[in-house]
Amino acid sequence: MNRVAVVTGGFGGIGRAIALRLAQDNVNVAIVDLAAGGDELCFELHRLGVKAGAYRCDVSDYEEVKVVCEKIVADFGGVDILINNAGITKDKLLLRMTEADFDRVIDVNLKGVFNFTKQLAKVLMRSKSGRIINISSVSGLMGNTGQANYSASKAGIIGFTKTIARELAPRGVTCNAVAPGFIDTDMTAGLPEQVKTTLLGTIPLGRMGKPGEVAELVAFLASERAGYITGEVIRIDGGLAM
Ligand SMILES: NC(=O)c1ccc[n+]([C@@H]2O[C@H](COP(=O)([O-])OP(=O)(O)OC[C@H]3O[C@@H](n4cnc5c(N)ncnc54)[C@H](O)[C@@H]3O)[C@@H](O)[C@H]2O)c1
Repeated sequence: MNRVAVVTGGFGGIGRAIALRLAQDNVNVAIVDLAAGGDELCFELHRLGVKAGAYRCDVSDYEEVKVVCEKIVADFGGVDILINNAGITKDKLLLRMTEADFDRVIDVNLKGVFNFTKQLAKVLMRSKSGRIINISSVSGLMGNTGQANYSASKAGIIGFTKTIARELAPRGVTCNAVAPGFIDTDMTAGLPEQVKTTLLGTIPLGRMGKPGEVAELVAFLASERAGYITGEVIRIDGGLAM
Protein backbone atom coordinates (compact mmCIF):
# COMPACT_ATOMS: atom_id res chain seq x y z
CA MET A 1 0.00 0.00 0.00
CA ASN A 2 1.23 3.51 -0.81
CA ARG A 3 2.56 5.57 2.07
CA VAL A 4 0.98 9.00 2.69
CA ALA A 5 2.82 12.32 3.02
CA VAL A 6 1.65 15.73 4.21
CA VAL A 7 3.62 18.59 2.64
CA THR A 8 3.00 22.05 4.10
CA GLY A 9 3.66 25.06 1.89
CA GLY A 10 3.15 22.58 -0.93
CA PHE A 11 2.35 25.12 -3.65
CA GLY A 12 5.71 26.89 -3.27
CA GLY A 13 8.95 26.19 -5.12
CA ILE A 14 10.46 23.61 -2.76
CA GLY A 15 7.15 22.15 -1.50
CA ARG A 16 5.89 21.49 -5.00
CA ALA A 17 9.17 19.80 -5.98
CA ILE A 18 8.96 17.62 -2.85
CA ALA A 19 5.35 16.62 -3.59
CA LEU A 20 6.22 15.62 -7.16
CA ARG A 21 9.39 13.76 -6.12
CA LEU A 22 7.54 11.79 -3.42
CA ALA A 23 4.89 10.86 -5.97
CA GLN A 24 7.64 9.30 -8.10
CA ASP A 25 8.26 7.00 -5.13
CA ASN A 26 4.55 6.08 -5.11
CA VAL A 27 3.74 8.18 -2.06
CA ASN A 28 0.21 9.66 -1.87
CA VAL A 29 0.38 13.38 -1.10
CA ALA A 30 -1.78 15.82 0.87
CA ILE A 31 -0.67 19.36 0.06
CA VAL A 32 -1.36 22.09 2.60
CA ASP A 33 -0.99 25.76 1.76
CA LEU A 34 -2.30 29.16 2.71
CA ALA A 35 -2.81 29.93 -0.95
CA ALA A 36 -5.99 28.64 -2.60
CA GLY A 37 -5.95 26.39 -5.64
CA GLY A 38 -3.82 23.35 -6.23
CA ASP A 39 -5.92 21.70 -8.94
CA GLU A 40 -3.08 21.77 -11.43
CA LEU A 41 -0.57 20.27 -8.99
CA CYS A 42 -3.08 17.59 -7.93
CA PHE A 43 -3.64 16.82 -11.60
CA GLU A 44 0.11 16.33 -12.11
CA LEU A 45 0.30 14.13 -9.01
CA HIS A 46 -2.63 12.01 -10.23
CA ARG A 47 -0.84 11.63 -13.56
CA LEU A 48 2.09 10.13 -11.65
CA GLY A 49 -0.36 7.51 -10.37
CA VAL A 50 -0.80 8.59 -6.74
CA LYS A 51 -3.71 9.89 -4.69
CA ALA A 52 -3.46 13.64 -4.03
CA GLY A 53 -5.48 16.34 -2.30
CA ALA A 54 -5.03 20.06 -1.63
CA TYR A 55 -6.03 21.62 1.71
CA ARG A 56 -6.16 25.32 2.48
CA CYS A 57 -4.77 26.10 5.93
CA ASP A 58 -2.72 28.67 7.80
CA VAL A 59 -0.07 26.54 9.52
CA SER A 60 0.23 29.11 12.33
CA ASP A 61 -3.42 28.62 13.39
CA TYR A 62 -3.59 25.76 15.92
CA GLU A 63 -7.34 25.11 15.53
CA GLU A 64 -7.24 25.27 11.72
CA VAL A 65 -4.36 22.79 11.68
CA LYS A 66 -6.28 20.42 13.96
CA VAL A 67 -9.30 20.42 11.64
CA VAL A 68 -7.18 19.95 8.49
CA CYS A 69 -5.17 17.10 10.01
CA GLU A 70 -8.38 15.28 10.99
CA LYS A 71 -9.67 15.74 7.45
CA ILE A 72 -6.44 14.46 5.87
CA VAL A 73 -6.36 11.37 8.10
CA ALA A 74 -10.01 10.66 7.24
CA ASP A 75 -9.39 11.16 3.49
CA PHE A 76 -6.13 9.19 3.26
CA GLY A 77 -6.55 6.65 6.08
CA GLY A 78 -3.36 7.70 7.88
CA VAL A 79 -0.11 9.65 7.51
CA ASP A 80 3.41 8.19 7.32
CA ILE A 81 5.50 11.23 6.37
CA LEU A 82 5.23 14.85 7.53
CA ILE A 83 7.19 17.52 5.66
CA ASN A 84 7.07 20.82 7.55
CA ASN A 85 8.04 23.12 4.70
CA ALA A 86 5.78 26.22 4.87
CA GLY A 87 7.83 29.32 5.54
CA ILE A 88 7.98 33.07 5.02
CA THR A 89 10.48 35.90 5.30
CA LYS A 90 9.97 39.46 6.52
CA ASP A 91 13.55 40.69 6.29
CA LYS A 92 14.62 43.92 7.99
CA LEU A 93 17.55 45.04 10.08
CA LEU A 94 16.75 44.76 13.78
CA LEU A 95 16.39 48.53 14.23
CA ARG A 96 13.60 48.56 11.61
CA MET A 97 12.00 45.20 12.39
CA THR A 98 8.58 45.57 14.01
CA GLU A 99 7.10 43.31 16.64
CA ALA A 100 4.56 42.16 14.03
CA ASP A 101 7.38 41.22 11.59
CA PHE A 102 9.02 39.15 14.30
CA ASP A 103 5.87 37.46 15.58
CA ARG A 104 4.48 36.51 12.17
CA VAL A 105 7.69 34.82 11.01
CA ILE A 106 8.01 32.88 14.28
CA ASP A 107 4.31 31.91 14.15
CA VAL A 108 4.43 30.57 10.59
CA ASN A 109 7.94 29.09 10.49
CA LEU A 110 8.27 27.68 14.01
CA LYS A 111 4.83 27.41 15.59
CA GLY A 112 3.55 25.97 12.31
CA VAL A 113 6.04 23.12 12.72
CA PHE A 114 4.83 22.54 16.29
CA ASN A 115 1.17 22.62 15.21
CA PHE A 116 1.49 19.95 12.53
CA THR A 117 3.88 17.74 14.50
CA LYS A 118 1.62 17.91 17.55
CA GLN A 119 -1.50 16.96 15.56
CA LEU A 120 0.11 14.15 13.56
CA ALA A 121 2.55 12.61 16.07
CA LYS A 122 0.15 9.88 17.21
CA VAL A 123 -0.85 9.10 13.63
CA LEU A 124 2.83 8.85 12.60
CA MET A 125 3.47 6.46 15.51
CA ARG A 126 0.96 4.07 13.96
CA SER A 127 3.05 3.97 10.75
CA LYS A 128 5.67 1.25 10.33
CA SER A 129 8.21 3.91 9.30
CA GLY A 130 7.05 7.34 10.44
CA ARG A 131 9.11 10.24 9.15
CA ILE A 132 9.20 13.94 10.04
CA ILE A 133 11.33 16.23 7.91
CA ASN A 134 11.53 19.89 8.87
CA ILE A 135 12.81 22.50 6.43
CA SER A 136 15.21 24.74 8.31
CA SER A 137 17.82 26.99 6.64
CA VAL A 138 21.51 27.82 6.74
CA SER A 139 20.30 31.13 8.23
CA GLY A 140 19.40 29.11 11.33
CA LEU A 141 22.97 27.82 11.51
CA MET A 142 24.98 30.94 10.63
CA GLY A 143 22.60 33.85 11.20
CA ASN A 144 22.05 36.31 8.37
CA THR A 145 21.97 40.10 8.40
CA GLY A 146 18.36 41.33 8.11
CA GLN A 147 16.91 37.99 9.20
CA ALA A 148 16.80 38.05 13.01
CA ASN A 149 13.21 36.74 12.93
CA TYR A 150 13.82 34.15 10.19
CA SER A 151 17.16 32.91 11.61
CA ALA A 152 15.63 32.55 15.07
CA SER A 153 12.70 30.56 13.63
CA LYS A 154 14.99 28.28 11.63
CA ALA A 155 17.38 27.73 14.57
CA GLY A 156 14.31 26.97 16.70
CA ILE A 157 13.32 24.28 14.20
CA ILE A 158 16.68 22.58 14.77
CA GLY A 159 16.19 22.39 18.54
CA PHE A 160 12.63 21.20 18.02
CA THR A 161 13.80 18.53 15.53
CA LYS A 162 16.38 17.08 17.93
CA THR A 163 13.89 16.97 20.79
CA ILE A 164 11.16 15.30 18.74
CA ALA A 165 13.74 12.84 17.36
CA ARG A 166 14.47 11.78 20.94
CA GLU A 167 10.82 11.69 22.02
CA LEU A 168 9.53 9.68 19.05
CA ALA A 169 12.51 7.36 18.47
CA PRO A 170 11.10 4.67 20.80
CA ARG A 171 7.99 4.64 18.57
CA GLY A 172 10.03 4.17 15.38
CA VAL A 173 9.48 7.70 14.05
CA THR A 174 12.54 9.57 12.77
CA CYS A 175 12.76 13.37 12.75
CA ASN A 176 15.38 15.26 10.76
CA ALA A 177 15.98 18.78 9.51
CA VAL A 178 17.17 19.92 6.10
CA ALA A 179 18.99 23.25 5.92
CA PRO A 180 18.96 24.65 2.38
CA GLY A 181 21.19 27.51 1.33
CA PHE A 182 20.22 29.77 -1.56
CA ILE A 183 17.53 27.99 -3.62
CA ASP A 184 15.92 29.36 -6.78
CA THR A 185 12.24 29.93 -5.77
CA ASP A 186 9.80 32.84 -5.32
CA MET A 187 11.32 33.37 -1.86
CA THR A 188 14.67 34.38 -3.37
CA ALA A 189 13.34 35.81 -6.66
CA GLY A 190 12.69 39.21 -5.08
CA LEU A 191 16.26 39.77 -3.86
CA PRO A 192 18.00 42.70 -5.56
CA GLU A 193 20.47 41.63 -8.30
CA GLN A 194 23.40 43.11 -6.39
CA VAL A 195 22.54 41.06 -3.28
CA LYS A 196 22.22 37.93 -5.44
CA THR A 197 25.62 38.51 -7.05
CA THR A 198 27.26 39.04 -3.66
CA LEU A 199 25.59 35.90 -2.28
CA LEU A 200 26.68 33.79 -5.24
CA GLY A 201 30.27 34.84 -4.56
CA THR A 202 30.04 33.24 -1.10
CA ILE A 203 28.87 29.82 -2.40
CA PRO A 204 31.79 27.47 -3.12
CA LEU A 205 29.81 25.70 -5.89
CA GLY A 206 29.10 29.16 -7.39
CA ARG A 207 25.39 28.74 -8.12
CA MET A 208 21.95 28.68 -6.55
CA GLY A 209 20.39 25.32 -5.70
CA LYS A 210 17.34 23.95 -7.47
CA PRO A 211 14.12 22.96 -5.67
CA GLY A 212 14.48 19.48 -7.20
CA GLU A 213 17.85 19.04 -5.49
CA VAL A 214 16.28 19.72 -2.08
CA ALA A 215 13.44 17.35 -2.98
CA GLU A 216 15.95 14.53 -3.70
CA LEU A 217 17.37 14.82 -0.18
CA VAL A 218 13.90 14.97 1.37
CA ALA A 219 12.79 11.91 -0.61
CA PHE A 220 15.81 9.99 0.67
CA LEU A 221 15.12 10.96 4.29
CA ALA A 222 11.47 9.98 3.80
CA SER A 223 12.38 6.57 2.40
CA GLU A 224 12.91 3.24 4.14
CA ARG A 225 16.62 3.59 3.27
CA ALA A 226 17.04 6.39 5.84
CA GLY A 227 15.65 4.40 8.76
CA TYR A 228 18.78 4.79 10.92
CA ILE A 229 19.10 8.60 10.56
CA THR A 230 17.39 10.72 13.19
CA GLY A 231 18.00 14.06 14.91
CA GLU A 232 20.24 15.07 12.01
CA VAL A 233 20.54 18.47 10.31
CA ILE A 234 21.67 18.15 6.71
CA ARG A 235 22.86 21.23 4.84
CA ILE A 236 22.14 21.45 1.11
CA ASP A 237 23.85 24.70 0.24
CA GLY A 238 26.64 24.27 -2.30
CA GLY A 239 29.13 24.52 0.58
CA LEU A 240 27.91 27.93 1.80
CA ALA A 241 27.84 27.15 5.53
CA MET A 242 30.70 24.63 5.87
N1 LIG B 1 14.36 29.40 -1.25
C1 LIG B 1 15.39 29.36 -0.43
O1 LIG B 1 16.48 29.85 -0.75
C2 LIG B 1 15.29 28.72 0.92
C3 LIG B 1 16.46 28.55 1.67
C4 LIG B 1 16.40 27.95 2.92
C5 LIG B 1 15.18 27.51 3.41
N2 LIG B 1 14.05 27.68 2.68
C6 LIG B 1 12.80 27.23 3.27
O2 LIG B 1 12.16 26.33 2.40
C7 LIG B 1 10.76 26.37 2.61
C8 LIG B 1 10.04 26.56 1.28
O3 LIG B 1 10.44 27.81 0.73
P1 LIG B 1 10.33 28.17 -0.82
O4 LIG B 1 11.65 28.71 -1.22
O5 LIG B 1 9.73 27.05 -1.57
O6 LIG B 1 9.34 29.42 -0.72
P2 LIG B 1 8.00 29.75 -1.49
O7 LIG B 1 7.65 31.13 -1.10
O8 LIG B 1 8.13 29.39 -2.92
O9 LIG B 1 6.96 28.72 -0.82
C9 LIG B 1 6.47 28.84 0.48
C10 LIG B 1 5.05 28.30 0.51
O10 LIG B 1 4.57 28.38 1.86
C11 LIG B 1 3.23 28.86 1.81
N3 LIG B 1 2.89 29.51 3.07
C12 LIG B 1 3.32 30.71 3.52
N4 LIG B 1 2.75 31.00 4.70
C13 LIG B 1 1.93 29.97 4.99
C14 LIG B 1 1.05 29.69 6.06
N5 LIG B 1 0.90 30.55 7.08
N6 LIG B 1 0.34 28.54 6.05
C15 LIG B 1 0.47 27.66 5.02
N7 LIG B 1 1.29 27.87 3.97
C16 LIG B 1 2.01 29.02 3.95
C17 LIG B 1 3.20 29.84 0.65
O11 LIG B 1 1.87 30.08 0.18
C18 LIG B 1 4.08 29.13 -0.36
O12 LIG B 1 3.32 28.28 -1.22
C19 LIG B 1 10.53 27.52 3.61
O13 LIG B 1 10.39 27.02 4.91
C20 LIG B 1 11.80 28.33 3.49
O14 LIG B 1 12.06 29.06 4.66
C21 LIG B 1 14.07 28.27 1.44
